Amino acid sequence: MEKKVCKIELKDGSHRYDVEIGHNLLEKSGQWIISTLAIEAKTIAIISNGKVFGLYGEAVKTSLLKSGFKVIVFLMDDGEEFKNFESFKRVLEFFGKNKFKRTDAVLALGGGVVGDLAGFAASVYLRGLAFLSIPTTLLSMIDSSVGGKTAINTSFGKNIVGTFHQPKGVLIDVETLKTLEEREVLAGFCEAIKHGAIGGYHVLNSVEKFLLESPLESFAENFEDETFLGKLTDLVFDQISLKASVVTKDEKESAKRTDSRSRKILNFGHTVGHALEKVTQYKQFKHGEAVGYGMLVAAEISTRLDILDNNSLNLLKRVVSLIGELPETNAIDVQDVLNSFAYDKKALGDGLHWILLEDIGKPKIVSSFEIPESIIIESLQEILHK
Ligand SMILES: NC(=O)c1ccc[n+]([C@@H]2O[C@H](COP(=O)([O-])OP(=O)(O)OC[C@H]3O[C@@H](n4cnc5c(N)ncnc54)[C@H](O)[C@@H]3O)[C@@H](O)[C@H]2O)c1
Ligand SMILES: [Zn+2]
Repeated sequence: MEKKVCKIELKDGSHRYDVEIGHNLLEKSGQWIISTLAIEAKTIAIISNGKVFGLYGEAVKTSLLKSGFKVIVFLMDDGEEFKNFESFKRVLEFFGKNKFKRTDAVLALGGGVVGDLAGFAASVYLRGLAFLSIPTTLLSMIDSSVGGKTAINTSFGKNIVGTFHQPKGVLIDVETLKTLEEREVLAGFCEAIKHGAIGGYHVLNSVEKFLLESPLESFAENFEDETFLGKLTDLVFDQISLKASVVTKDEKESAKRTDSRSRKILNFGHTVGHALEKVTQYKQFKHGEAVGYGMLVAAEISTRLDILDNNSLNLLKRVVSLIGELPETNAIDVQDVLNSFAYDKKALGDGLHWILLEDIGKPKIVSSFEIPESIIIESLQEILHK
């Protein structure tokens, strides 16, 4: 099958780039860089981690060398806890030691952790180097690789320090998903369902159809099948198109905007999602899994407020159930989750905003002052304590 190309252009025309999606693409990454970069880069710094580089690094590196690039490789430690200032500093020192120049380029090879760190380092070194990315997790393919947000975590919060730095290009080889751990696949699908909930029936139905035709239990076994790879390419393409349609119209997530197409709608399911991660000390859930529950709670609140009908709520529940079992939540204290919102309220000053739904594809940003606490409590109980 031909690869698909999603063309991304910011509303003000200041930046445009292509996301190329397909399979057997890693072997062509050298050619891809030549056709993507306007400048003639001499050295490419691949930023990855040991696990991902061990799986896919040689294919990419060999292709880059064949295309005439000098290649240097920086491997960070694997894990969210290493998306920190220390790793950032090490990457900058690595650029310095290798006498990296403005005309050189940074290539992230890995999931969202690698992408966020590499993008951040690229955005500040010499006031901004060309950044390219090859995302290798479902979440990074459909979410973090598009939109230009870069970040590191600090002792005072996650993703607190970062920049907006759009990539020059993104290359997605869906075959890399074959080696992804089951829970990472499931977590990625939660974000895909989130895009469906805010994007509309066509996006949500396409996720549902994919899951019905290719149940996740046998996900890794399907990669020999060309038809499956084609379906996966289509799914990722639809997802990126949806994310791009939102972020290109509100690149920097304007604080003032509360309309139904503000970039904030991408946080559907994240109010409760973040709270669940926090109250379980980031140990029990993958981020996407927590968002899975978060979406259901937000939809439940919407139904109890009478702005969403039961059919839509049930559709969302059905699609979430198709991905399989989410971690158990019966032991989670609803009051702890509420307290965690109270903290968020303070952080926001003017109150916490919820992304609710009026329909599939019709998100609504609502201030928490407009939602009776009893409805939030009942909704949390309904979804978490079944
Ligand atoms: N910039 C944004 O807009 C944005 C959006 C959403 C999330 N994020 C960030 O993304 C990060 C989460 O990203 P993630 O879910 O990709 O996690 P991750 O990068 O930690 O990857 C998950 C795990 O999968 C491994 N892995 C990656 N690709 C693999 C492959 N093909 N085969 C086998 N193993 C593989 C990784 O080494 C890691 O152990 C968070 O830090 C989050 O803040 C950023
Ligand atoms: Zn998320």
